[in-house]
Amino acid sequence: MKIVTKIAELRKFLEAERSTGKSVGFVPTMGYLHDGHVALVREASKQCDVVVVSIFVNPTQFGPHEDFQAYPRNLQRDAKVCEREGVDYLFVPSEEEMYSSDFLTFVEVQELTGGLCGASRPGHFKGVTTVVAKLFNIVRPHKAFFGEKDAQQLLVVKKLVRDLNFDLEVVGVPAVREKDGLAMSSRNKYLDPKERKAAPVLFRSLSLANEKIAEGEREADKVKQAMKELLETEPLVTLEYLSICRTEDLKEIDKLSGDVLVALAARVGKARLIDNLFISLNN
Ligand code: PAJ
Repeated sequence: MKIVTKIAELRKFLEAERSTGKSVGFVPTMGYLHDGHVALVREASKQCDVVVVSIFVNPTQFGPHEDFQAYPRNLQRDAKVCEREGVDYLFVPSEEEMYSSDFLTFVEVQELTGGLCGASRPGHFKGVTTVVAKLFNIVRPHKAFFGEKDAQQLLVVKKLVRDLNFDLEVVGVPAVREKDGLAMSSRNKYLDPKERKAAPVLFRSLSLANEKIAEGEREADKVKQAMKELLETEPLVTLEYLSICRTEDLKEIDKLSGDVLVALAARVGKARLIDNLFISLNN
């Protein structure tokens, strides 16, 4: 595995790979890798000849009072994980390499970024789409792999690719969970033991929604009410939002039908956790 810090150097390596007809799979991350990231890498290895992972804690997607400085970092461990998983190139640019001091250009997907996490994290998705567009231009992958755990991010990146004609396919990979259902996240590290015990209620509330819908419930409010009652049994968990929306445009719905996303964000101690469930309904 080659660890590369310079854009020009990575481009040279990947140009050589592409010129021999190899397909390039790309997994962008902010590091502190866990089995969720590993699932993306494995899918990329399955579908592509060459796998590139990037690790860059992107400052432009963090708000002024968010955890940019505190965000967990462990490059040595991450490099070992990537090596073990057969990653070909690990791209670890510095902040200066990605954002020169005279940087002025941002990429923004409208509408889709207004609700859910966009409502409580203004500017977040603008930072995500800007860095993802830059990384796509640097890596020029045939396929890029994103987790369904960050459902809104996945849909926003798919829209970015369509709208700006990036010549690549975005592949979504299902969320990887701990045994008790908690979605894996670098931010789970912030949880103390009591909070860690409380956090799986997020997944349990999604499972409850799934059950209610399977039993025939089609009123979004009723599903949300049942979820809220369950979430309220954990005093360490403060709900930030709970949404039942169409996957197509993330618009809230009253009556469930078609492709639906049940999504939530909650504070558990210092951690802001998100989770969601995609559900397809025929009626
Ligand atoms: P990060 O939070 O490191 O996540 C990198 C990728 O891993 C994302 O596509 C995310 O959806 C996926 N992922 C995280 N947890 C997962 C889980 N439990 N199961 C499956 N996939 C999971 O998302 C970002 O970084 C950044 O916003 C980034 C896209 C790199 C832009 O800076």
